[in-house]
Amino acid sequence: MAADKKTGGLAGVTAGSTHICTVGKEGAGLTYRGYDIYDLADNASFEEVAYLLLHGSLPTRSELDGYIAKIKANRRLPAELMTVLEMVPRSAHPMDVLRTGVSFLGNIEPEGDFENQQDVADRLLACLPSMLLYWHRFHTDGVRIETSTDDDSIAAHFLHMLHDKAPSELHRKCLDTTLILYAEHEFNASTFAARVITGTLSDMHSAVTGAIGALRGPLHGGANEAAMELISRFDTPEDAIEGVHGMLARKDLIMGFGHRVYTTSDPRNSVNKRMSKALAEDVGNSTLYPVSEAIEKVMWDEKKLFANADFFAASVYHFMGIPTYLFTPIFVCSRITGWAAHVMEQRADNKLIRPAADYIGPGLKEWVAIENR
Ligand code: COA
Repeated sequence: MAADKKTGGLAGVTAGSTHICTVGKEGAGLTYRGYDIYDLADNASFEEVAYLLLHGSLPTRSELDGYIAKIKANRRLPAELMTVLEMVPRSAHPMDVLRTGVSFLGNIEPEGDFENQQDVADRLLACLPSMLLYWHRFHTDGVRIETSTDDDSIAAHFLHMLHDKAPSELHRKCLDTTLILYAEHEFNASTFAARVITGTLSDMHSAVTGAIGALRGPLHGGANEAAMELISRFDTPEDAIEGVHGMLARKDLIMGFGHRVYTTSDPRNSVNKRMSKALAEDVGNSTLYPVSEAIEKVMWDEKKLFANADFFAASVYHFMGIPTYLFTPIFVCSRITGWAAHVMEQRADNKLIRPAADYIGPGLKEWVAIENR
């Protein structure tokens, strides 16, 4: 059925209010709790941004130190969860692993009443990278890793567990910055899903499990993996130009381009693009960055479509040696902050979310007994 042109996908529909984030707002752009995304990307750590989103204000030095210590203390996985992760097959997509992991954690560490919602959010923030990389390393390398590393930052913790060694400062900083850029984005599909679930007075684990399911699709978070698949197809910018022209002629979707809210650019793209260039030089890769730039130019020249946050994030992650199937799960490790902030905001002034639909089915019909059909 064709989507209604006017309200299809709820485009342009205001579905509630929020204190947390602006997306493409005139005179503000992308902000978290009033802070410009470029200021946050240049100056903050991901832990500061997580605190900002979850507590509503920037932490003082001692608050940040306390918060980092709390996250570090929450990285260890319960034995039952490790057993479950070992049972999820190697062939599973890691987004499904996280979906199962969060859902299972909701069984063994249930939220109960909502008094401890901040602790539940922090626990998820701390242990999502542990879940992901415990499963990944168990199934790819046959090892049971220690998930309770002493790294202060979530970015270093992630890369340390993945590569079995502490990352370079450049790699840590770049991953940290992508976590900041991915952390929050107003009423995007997965956050809205989390708010709908929360609106029924359900628990945080259910809201996050549903949000992971929504983020998984290639029209949302899954686009960074699809973008990697696209840029890996081409050996030269010339190949890429020809290939993308062919795809556009066939009316294929080019993943990592376009956006529901932004009309001329995605503010996160320039930051990712800068990091992709720096990392390409760092690892000595002279193909992927020029190929990506060539695709970006064709898309703008031919369709006036711009790269969104996912396009250059793909090469940024690739240059750090991160396997493609972990790209969208990294988005989860970051967006858990935005989701949890929205869960708490929804609860603070809750109303069941239940819109209406225009009925366009058949008129009332007469009942026909089964033997007469
Ligand atoms: N590649 C090719 N064409 C695209 C495109 C893309 N990435 N994104 C949009 N278009 C085209 C559509 O085909 C459509 O053309 P039409 O009017 O001739 O039918 C037009 O631009 C409008 O797109 P539409 O899908 O209606 O916009 P939307 O607001 O519903 O979709 C996205 C927004 C993000 C889902 C869409 O741009 C997309 O699918 N992008 C690729 C996936 C992606 O990168 N997702 C991550 C988003 S952060």
